[in-house]
Amino acid sequence: MLSCNINQSRPGWHFAALVALLFSPPAVLAQANRNSKRGIAYLGDTHRADNNLLISSSTPLSWYYNWSPYPNTDQIPRDGPLEFIPLIHGIDGAEDSQTARVIGSLPESSSHILSFNEPDGTKDSGGSSIEPKDAAKAYIEHIVPYRNGENGGRKWKISHPSTTGSPMGLEWLRRFNESCYEIDSENGCPTDFIAAHWYGAFDGLTSWLGTLDEFYNKNASLDLKIWVTEMALPQADEKATVAMMNSSLGYLDGLDYVERYAWFGAFRSSDANEWTGDGVALFDKKGGLTELGALYMGGEQNGFKEGQKGEGEGAASGFRVSGGLVAALAMLTVYVNGFW
Ligand SMILES: *[C@@H]1O[C@H](CO)[C@@H](O)[C@H](O)[C@H]1NC(C)=O
Ligand SMILES: *[C@@H]1O[C@H](CO)[C@@H](O)[C@H](O)[C@H]1NC(C)=O
Ligand SMILES: *[C@@H]1O[C@H](CO)[C@@H](O)[C@H](O)[C@H]1NC(C)=O
Repeated sequence: MLSCNINQSRPGWHFAALVALLFSPPAVLAQANRNSKRGIAYLGDTHRADNNLLISSSTPLSWYYNWSPYPNTDQIPRDGPLEFIPLIHGIDGAEDSQTARVIGSLPESSSHILSFNEPDGTKDSGGSSIEPKDAAKAYIEHIVPYRNGENGGRKWKISHPSTTGSPMGLEWLRRFNESCYEIDSENGCPTDFIAAHWYGAFDGLTSWLGTLDEFYNKNASLDLKIWVTEMALPQADEKATVAMMNSSLGYLDGLDYVERYAWFGAFRSSDANEWTGDGVALFDKKGGLTELGALYMGGEQNGFKEGQKGEGEGAASGFRVSGGLVAALAMLTVYVNGFW
């Protein structure tokens, strides 16, 4: 919206827009492009420039998580645009007293907790490899208390474990639910939202989300939103990957029962794992946005182009001091140079 004003050819407009920008509250400026659903699965990229781009004032991103309860405060500022979502990876983490302490110290903007990561998957592939009955016991003992305010006083919204997007994942959820009701025949394992993973083609994504919606909402008469916390098209060429993301973004943005989603992932192609291949990366090996990365950031409409890099160290501290002023100065540069 801001860029439209700047592109108008009437000179008076430019000046008025700049004045408005200079004196408008930074929060308004900073949220112009924000998409409340879109977030990132964050591996802890230590390249400051990449992080500065992800949190820049025109970012569409609004949240991140890193498969742990510990936020990346060195890389992603606590008071920045991205809300941090803690995740309790497995039973060890659920039992660890540090987990409750760190979750209790998160800012009030954090209100949701993700639970066990791919319990139906092996540890080698990032899963937590937990039997449904063990997961049910640990969930009732350690995760449900966050929901009731019995673990540190705050009432969190909690998710069921996120399985792999496969028949094995669905079977795990079915057995988990049975175990939950065996332990607590009245309440089972209460949940506020569902976390889903998907690696594959677009039509498979729609089908997996439809299955979860059927399992929880239609068949069990619940009314739960789904968060797609990992998704990508692994091992595909750039054209196919971009097309899959493009279809998925439009679909997920429009789908009422999807509350949030995160592409896997926000890293450089050189940091991608062998299983997904480097085609899923939002950054190339030098830190420029890939075509995929530019699309995820909202493209030229939001001021992001393929090859674009984030700002270095100096701009980062300036941004923290006064986002509004820096953004306004950036617009001034745009105005002088005559393009956005
Ligand atoms: C929902 O219930 C129908 C009818 O019982 C069943 O055929 C279907 O498999 C169930 N869906 C899921 C995802 O469990
Ligand atoms: C879990 O099991 C209970 C008890 O059998 C059942 O009523 C409920 O529909 C199940 N929930 C899901 C999500 O399948
Ligand atoms: C994304 O999809 C839209 C139509 O939904 C199309 O107009 C656009 O060209 C696509 N962009 C890419 C990068 O594939």
